[in-house]
Parts: sequence; C-alpha cells; structure tokens
Amino acid sequence: MLYHIPWINMPVRTAIAIWHQLTKYEIPDLAKSSVLMRDRSRVEETIQAMHRAGPSTLQVISDFDMTLTRFAHNGRRCPTTHNILDNSLILSEDCRNQMRQLLNTYYPIEIDAARTVKEKLPLMVEWWTKVHELLIQQKIRKDLLSQVVKESSAMLREGYKGFFDHLQEQHVPLLIFSAGVGDILEEVIRQNQVFHPNVHIMSNYMDFDDCGILQSFKGQLIHIFNKREGALLHTAHFLELRDRPNVLLLGDSLGDLTMADGVATQHIVTIGFLNDQVEERKESYINSYDIVVVKDETMDVPNAVLNYITTGK
Ligand code: C5P
Ligand code: MG
Repeated sequence: MLYHIPWINMPVRTAIAIWHQLTKYEIPDLAKSSVLMRDRSRVEETIQAMHRAGPSTLQVISDFDMTLTRFAHNGRRCPTTHNILDNSLILSEDCRNQMRQLLNTYYPIEIDAARTVKEKLPLMVEWWTKVHELLIQQKIRKDLLSQVVKESSAMLREGYKGFFDHLQEQHVPLLIFSAGVGDILEEVIRQNQVFHPNVHIMSNYMDFDDCGILQSFKGQLIHIFNKREGALLHTAHFLELRDRPNVLLLGDSLGDLTMADGVATQHIVTIGFLNDQVEERKESYINSYDIVVVKDETMDVPNAVLNYITTGK
C-alpha cells in the first residue's frame, strides 16, 4: 500500500528518500562531484570528533605549490615558486632555457604513476640540486625578489583569503611545508596580504651574502619525497604544538602525506588535490588521502571542512 502525504502530493517513501539525501552530508561541499572519498562515513565521523575537540586542539599543515596555489587559470598553467624564478627576466636566457628543459624532463617523472617513489627519489634530488646550482650561478639579488613575484602569474586558489583569515581569527597555527623556494613563497603570501602571525613556513630558503647576492641554499634540501625527514628535523616546532593533536593536512603530492609525521596525532583528516594525470593517479590518491579533490581550483572543500571543525556549520 502506498501512503501519500497529501499537502505535498508525494508518496511517503519518496519524501523519506529526499529527506535522507538532503540530510546525508553534514558538509554539503563534500557532496560535490569533484570530491572522492574511500570511506565517507569515517571521514565525517573524524571531522565531527575534531569539531567536538574544538579549534584550540587543531593545527593545519599544508603544502604550498599546487595546493594553496592554483594549478591552472583560464586554461593556462600557473607557476610554482621555482617556476616564478624560471620565468623571470632576472635570469639569463640560457639559464631560463636550461631550467625549462629540466622541468620538461623531471616533472613527467614526478607525476608518473608507473614509477615507484624509490625510483623517483634520486631523480628528484638530481632535479632540485641542478636547479639550485643554476640559480646560485645567476647571482640573484635579494632586493629584486619582490618585483619578480609582482610580475609573475602566481595565484593562490580561489577562497584563499577566507582560509588564511579564518585560521588567524580562530588562533589556529598554519604550517606551510614546501619543497619550493621559501623566499618566493613568503613574498606570494605577503603580496596577497595573508602572511598572518599564525603562519609558519618550512621550505628551502636562499642564503644571501653581505651584499644581498644569493650564495647558497640554507640547511637540508627539501624535495617532494623527504618531507618526513624535514618534519622530524623540526621536532621543536611540533613539541610547542603538542596540545594540538588534531591535524588538517592539505597536499597535492603523495609525498605531502608525511608532513605530519612529527605530530603525535589524535585525529587527522587529509585532503589531496589531484590536479594532473587524473585517471592514472586517481586510485592511488583515493587509497592515500581521506578526501580527494579533483581538478578544482578553489579552497571550497578545505574551507568547508575547516568551518565545520571550528564552528560546527
Ligand atoms: O610547495 P611544494 O612542496 O609543492 O613544491 C614542490 C613543487 O615544485 C613540485 O611539485 C615540483 O613540481 C615543483 N618544482 C618546480 N621546479 C623545480 C623543482 C620543483 O616547479 N625546479
Ligand atoms: Mg605541491
């Protein structure tokens, strides 16, 4: 027998199905077609547990290039912090060509789904080392970096301001952990007016001589597959945040998943942006990240998760 709800002229069963559909997701952005999850209910349970624990127990750890910055805009690729330098006229034409050739050789290896991390790792070290050597030869001037970034087409993802400002308002620390160039990264967020006091950066920083000329890179090289070692080197930072065992982690490479290895986590939710080679890499991303955001140039998903954790809305 089919019961009807007369005032909306709909069978009860249909009305219940619609009600379930509408109330199924606490966070509607997670129902977007660009969002993939291997275990939706576990993700929602973890986010709810993080909300109950409150913003004072939260820290956010994020990659930079192609995670906080856009991968593409109007059909054109956006630059990484390294590419901002590669494209800049402060480098000689010969150096720019060599950097571009290196990018064309090594970037396809970085995103190759058919190669293991073990195979890729020495090649990535080779790429970063060659590029840093080329940059050092160019005797780059520190005082020109701000102009280099101003003239670049670097873009943070749509919704970035809400993300950075909300974390600042909620006093949630944001660690940006990048294998890019720290000095350029800082300039990008400074020029976008979001370099708030709660932002901490671990990256490859340039070392300038007394005349402000690049002479080397400081400390141990960070590339996309040694973020774990980088995290473990900065135990003091994580120790300071030991009362914040809940982590929201954002990345675009599988190597980014190790960025929280220095934290004794209670709850962690990982969001991975899958920007390129989608079909080839989809399965590994779904198996590795809790939430996979496919070809979406906005911060909508991280912002929605963050808002739910901090405000329950
Ligand atoms: O900030 P993040 O850790 O993502 O920075 C690493 C990214 O920089 C890599 O994904 C890589 O593609 C890019 N890269 C580059 N040029 C280089 C070295 C790395 O664009 N010379
Ligand atoms: Mg990245």
